[in-house]
Amino acid sequence: MAKQRLLSGVKPTGKIHIGNYFGAVKQFVDFQDKYECFIFIADYHALNQIQDPQKLKEDIIEVAKTYLSIGLDPKKVVLFKQSDVPLVTELAWIFNCLTPIGELKRAHAYKAAIAKNKPVNMGLFCYPVLMAADILIYQADIVPVGEDQTQHIEITRDIAKKFNRVFGETFKIPRAYIPPEVPLLVGLDGRKMSKSYNNSIDLFDSPEQIRKKVMSIVTDSRSPDEPKDPETCNIFAFHKLFSQKDLDAIAQRYRQGKISYKESKEILIENMNKYLEPFRKRRKELDENPDIVKKILEKGKQRALEVASQTLNLVKKKIGVLLD
Ligand code: ADP
Ligand code: TRP
Repeated sequence: MAKQRLLSGVKPTGKIHIGNYFGAVKQFVDFQDKYECFIFIADYHALNQIQDPQKLKEDIIEVAKTYLSIGLDPKKVVLFKQSDVPLVTELAWIFNCLTPIGELKRAHAYKAAIAKNKPVNMGLFCYPVLMAADILIYQADIVPVGEDQTQHIEITRDIAKKFNRVFGETFKIPRAYIPPEVPLLVGLDGRKMSKSYNNSIDLFDSPEQIRKKVMSIVTDSRSPDEPKDPETCNIFAFHKLFSQKDLDAIAQRYRQGKISYKESKEILIENMNKYLEPFRKRRKELDENPDIVKKILEKGKQRALEVASQTLNLVKKKIGVLLD
């Protein structure tokens, strides 16, 4: 049986931190054998936030290098840039004509902007429609995303169903995949790890940066020999991801008052570096050979265009703009 198709993307809006990694991009690597994967860089979505050409270029390359450094294999996965497939914006227009304004007014990102009295451009308002076009143009079966994106997948499904109802069976109805048990990772200050809070550990931080950041993780002031609750400790939240092998032993030492926060941090630094070192190594190779990334994106573009143009042709027939 043919493999099901998986599609997902990340907005190029800065460095990728370990919250993005465990919450989103790691899943792509875990799935690359099971599904036919299309993974892209959502550069047109980022234009809402980033209106500085130099920064956008750098951030696009950053995401591409991240994908490759964490182990996505371009022989198995179609890696491409959203803007290299302009047909997707054409499909988004077609979907605009089917999408009730009311549905977009209920979208979380739009509501949040309104609540904060922030100016809203059409790009932010129509963000979910472009996302629907991203997903449906490749006839994706499964879309791995973080919890915060589930509403967008619901809107995508609504748009696909509406199109099928109005114009006849055309689109597969995709399903979201939310990774089980990925906690919302906390940052150094105990709030959600986020680029916007400046509290992140980034995937390519150097060992020196990791040391500095881990040492700054906020804890309570319990002394080394006091029992501690691992479940409420910000350091332990990271052990769950980086110290799997010794997790039970570390938890026990917490409960028995046999570990200081200082020692817990030292163990974490060592395990983090072990985990991240292969990523850093591959990243360095890519930094030294920038053409590799461009070639891979060019190859991905060709394959993505093939699939997208098939879908868009069918859509144009269905809506009646292709004259036979
Ligand atoms: P940020 O808040 O840093 O700007 P984004 O909103 O760009 O991150 O999120 C990109 C992806 O990473 C989303 O799928 C999101 O669910 C996931 N993600 C972001 N922050 C975290 C976190 N702290 N823990 C787990 N997943 C996260
Ligand atoms: N909106 C997603 C995010 O902010 C990025 C994205 C754009 C996406 N298009 C997509 C994710 C299509 C999955 C499928 O993280």
